[in-house]
Amino acid sequence: MGQADRLLLSSRIARTRISASAAAAQRSRELRAQGIDIIELAQGEPDFNTPDHVIEAATRAMREGQTHYTQVDGTPALKAAIIAKFRRENGLEFKPENVSAGAGGKQVLHNALMATLDPGDEVVIPAPSWVAYADIAHYAGGTPVWVATRPEDGFKLTAGQLEAAITPRTKWLMLNSPSNPSGAVYSATELLALVPVLERHPHVWTIADDIYEHVLFDGRRFATLAGVAPQLTGRVLTVNGVSKTYAMTGWRLGYCAGPAELVRAMARLQAQSTLNPSSISQAAAVAALNGPQDIVHERCAIFQARRDALVARLKAVPGLACEPPHGAFYVYVSCAGWLGRRTPQGKVLETDADVTGWLLDAAHLALPNGAGYGLSPYFRVSFAAEQAQLERACERLVAAAATLS
Ligand SMILES: Cc1ncc(COP(=O)(O)O)c(C=O)c1O
Repeated sequence: MGQADRLLLSSRIARTRISASAAAAQRSRELRAQGIDIIELAQGEPDFNTPDHVIEAATRAMREGQTHYTQVDGTPALKAAIIAKFRRENGLEFKPENVSAGAGGKQVLHNALMATLDPGDEVVIPAPSWVAYADIAHYAGGTPVWVATRPEDGFKLTAGQLEAAITPRTKWLMLNSPSNPSGAVYSATELLALVPVLERHPHVWTIADDIYEHVLFDGRRFATLAGVAPQLTGRVLTVNGVSKTYAMTGWRLGYCAGPAELVRAMARLQAQSTLNPSSISQAAAVAALNGPQDIVHERCAIFQARRDALVARLKAVPGLACEPPHGAFYVYVSCAGWLGRRTPQGKVLETDADVTGWLLDAAHLALPNGAGYGLSPYFRVSFAAEQAQLERACERLVAAAATLS
């Protein structure tokens, strides 16, 4: 078949990009197909299985006939489980009309931005950030406004930076804690420091993306904006999902809670795309949210042990620098010390894309580079992988560093 006629494609689709992690994953698949032993630490999903009781609940639901269309943005049982979760874990009170479920946190975020952005509306995105915020904002016709955070601030947005980024066109602030890719976690005090700025600008709404809520290290307590600043709940959308907490990425089930008018608009949009999230996944999510939570803590402890081992090894690689992430399962590694150095193939490394391109071709290590996350020069290492694989990856980094001149 020939190439599609360009005229067929909308300008909207031209604004969507392939993410750095998806590009790294694709390139490593190609090299693997050539028989090369690639270590890929680009994945954004737990390497565990969905808990057994969740799988059993889904099987039961199918047998009992829960295989039909449901309410567009969630069954009453799922909404009740989401409301109970917000009450139990975050001290937040919501009614069913405040709650919406979609096919993953990503669809929920997509719904929220598509339902609210007009051309020229701005979305403030602290960098580094999960790339989808900017891509969805673009796709929805809005303008992403990246704000570079500083490593010395733990990659967290300060009140001064937020104030400086807000304009009359600002519609949303995206807050993601724990953060993909930096692992930054905002304490209640740090969130409260942003509140006076948001109070001064009542036209600015906030999306709190809490998807990594339960991957939190060193005994930290989780805080979310709506919890610490109840006066802002009329313009905060709190987004979460079962993907990362319960190792359920493939089930595609995310949810949110916020002002009823926004939630209704999001459901109207979803009704014109996927309609309801899978009825079976909704039944599974009910079991995950209402069921025993011990496995969540056990898995978090495993992530923490991997983090400790990985960060110690990475810090020992000449020219690389990183701090232990406070949550999520990624380390954001500075490769500034490698820039300007020459590879054995004769190429001078000038950007983080050069670094990850070279690591893939020469060391057979697949890692997404920082430019994709809006802050260079870095690359992201996911530790949602077996310890032995992390060890082998670090050996390859040490070996690669030794070849730079
Ligand atoms: C920061 C962040 N938010 C949201 C999501 C969406 O996850 P899902 O669509 O699987 O719920 C991801 C997934 O990688 C993420 O990293």
